[in-house]
Amino acid sequence: MSLPATKISPMSSPQDLAKYLEKKNLIDGKLVSPQSGAYFKVLNPATMETVCEMPQSGASDVESAILSAEKAQKAWKEVSAEKRGRLISQCADLLEAHQEELAQLMTLETGKAIRTESRLEAGVFANSFRYYAGLAMEIKGETIPHSPTTLTMTVREPIGVVGAIIPWNVPLLLMALKVAPALVAGNSIVVKSSEEAPLAVLRAAELINSILPAGLLNMISGDGPGTGAILATHPKIAKLTFTGSVETGKIVYGLSAQKLAPVTLELGGKSPMIICEDVDVDKVVQGAVTSMRFTRQGQSCTAASRIFIHATIFDAFLEKLKAKVNALKMGNPFDETTDIGTIISPAQYEKVLKYIEIGKLASGAKAHTCSQLPEKAPFSKGLYIQPVLFTGLSNDHQLAQEEIFGPVTCLIPWKSFEDVIQMANDSEYGLAATIWTNDLCKALNAVHQLEAGFVQVNQNNVVMPGLSYGGFKSSGLGKEASFEAMIDHFTRKKTIIMNLRS
Ligand code: NAI
Ligand code: MG
Repeated sequence: MSLPATKISPMSSPQDLAKYLEKKNLIDGKLVSPQSGAYFKVLNPATMETVCEMPQSGASDVESAILSAEKAQKAWKEVSAEKRGRLISQCADLLEAHQEELAQLMTLETGKAIRTESRLEAGVFANSFRYYAGLAMEIKGETIPHSPTTLTMTVREPIGVVGAIIPWNVPLLLMALKVAPALVAGNSIVVKSSEEAPLAVLRAAELINSILPAGLLNMISGDGPGTGAILATHPKIAKLTFTGSVETGKIVYGLSAQKLAPVTLELGGKSPMIICEDVDVDKVVQGAVTSMRFTRQGQSCTAASRIFIHATIFDAFLEKLKAKVNALKMGNPFDETTDIGTIISPAQYEKVLKYIEIGKLASGAKAHTCSQLPEKAPFSKGLYIQPVLFTGLSNDHQLAQEEIFGPVTCLIPWKSFEDVIQMANDSEYGLAATIWTNDLCKALNAVHQLEAGFVQVNQNNVVMPGLSYGGFKSSGLGKEASFEAMIDHFTRKKTIIMNLRS
């Protein structure tokens, strides 16, 4: 495949690339220093070394990014859908060519294992651009048989400048699910990256900017209250799209409400995995390992963090699951043999350890601690946490109700189907759920009754371009990743009536 002409060639090492991006935002097509003059440190959580410093952007940086995006959007909305799609498709080619480089940079800043996590994510990242590029010419309205004397129709228009606030757990993919549909639909976008993972997304934004007109995609870094809240409040941000915690989701929803701007929220979960007595235990144990997302230290909003196992197979399941999790290797995230990387930050590390302590203190609880911490420096200093399977905790315990975002799972036995569905739904969250059975009737009953936006039978795959993804209840508002998500959340509908008798 011949690549589109670009001056950007893959860099030699993630460390070099981090130095190249250091202290920069991407505004109006250029890597620029922040006007704020303030910076924060980016940590490599596998070694506790500082990777580089990045801008703590202030109001004037946010303002520059939004003004540049506003100007660029005026021209972009006049570009034909065919050309917009073609350019986004070229971005997909370029991002694919830089997959390894982006994966390595993400591993450096997040501690995610390169083989089990970062490389896969960087691949889906490029694919998401390809998926949306192909939909550019499908953005269309309707004609309505309103009356014989009028021609009545709707058109779908871009909204304007979109603000996006993204988290650190899957930064590239979550960026793509916002940036690609927003741009394809004719908007421009200003992204605030997470203070824990600003590098891979910035490099990706630079690559995209080597193809698209300047200003369409601007990327700034900074913390939540100092940068994110300013972006969310800005009157020129016509639409906000956010992924992160429920607490912050409520804050940005409130800020957008003040100016009546539409909002999409993707806010985490406490996803149930229901295992029936008729399954092949070995197969489902493997499915549980994938579902718990322990290779990402459980830092996933769709992680199965509550596993409901039929009482008749509980003990056999537990033993086999322990053996599988024990076999996962923790260590240098760049090592191709490593399965599990690190927790993202010292704050998250403390938070997860606290939850584990609370669980151990509960009466009747047993913590099954698996796998081995790395012993050799520098990884012995890293933010590694041994995965813990808890038994003896009921579904109403704090550990089974709150999102831990760490390698901690509650295993809960069940006997009656009615009870297990009730326990699965007894949660403030409603993002994802899975049911594992060979009984079609049971599977369909569960699918029908589970209160979750993303329900899978006999598998637990991650978000895929093309499939609507988004939670019920406190897990969020709106959908991402699909055609419908682009139409509903990145366009506005205009109704037009032409009087044919005038
Ligand atoms: P967070 O919700 O604080 O951060 C997510 C993003 O929002 C970041 O870019 C952050 O800078 C920004 N932000 C924070 N406060 C803001 C404010 N007042 N106004 C505007 N933007 C703001 O999440 P955090 O602290 O990184 O993680 C805490 C917990 O959130 C995790 O333990 C996990 O439970 C949950 N979480 C869920 C995610 C998901 O995929 N659903 C992703 C990340 C975190
Ligand atoms: Mg970091």
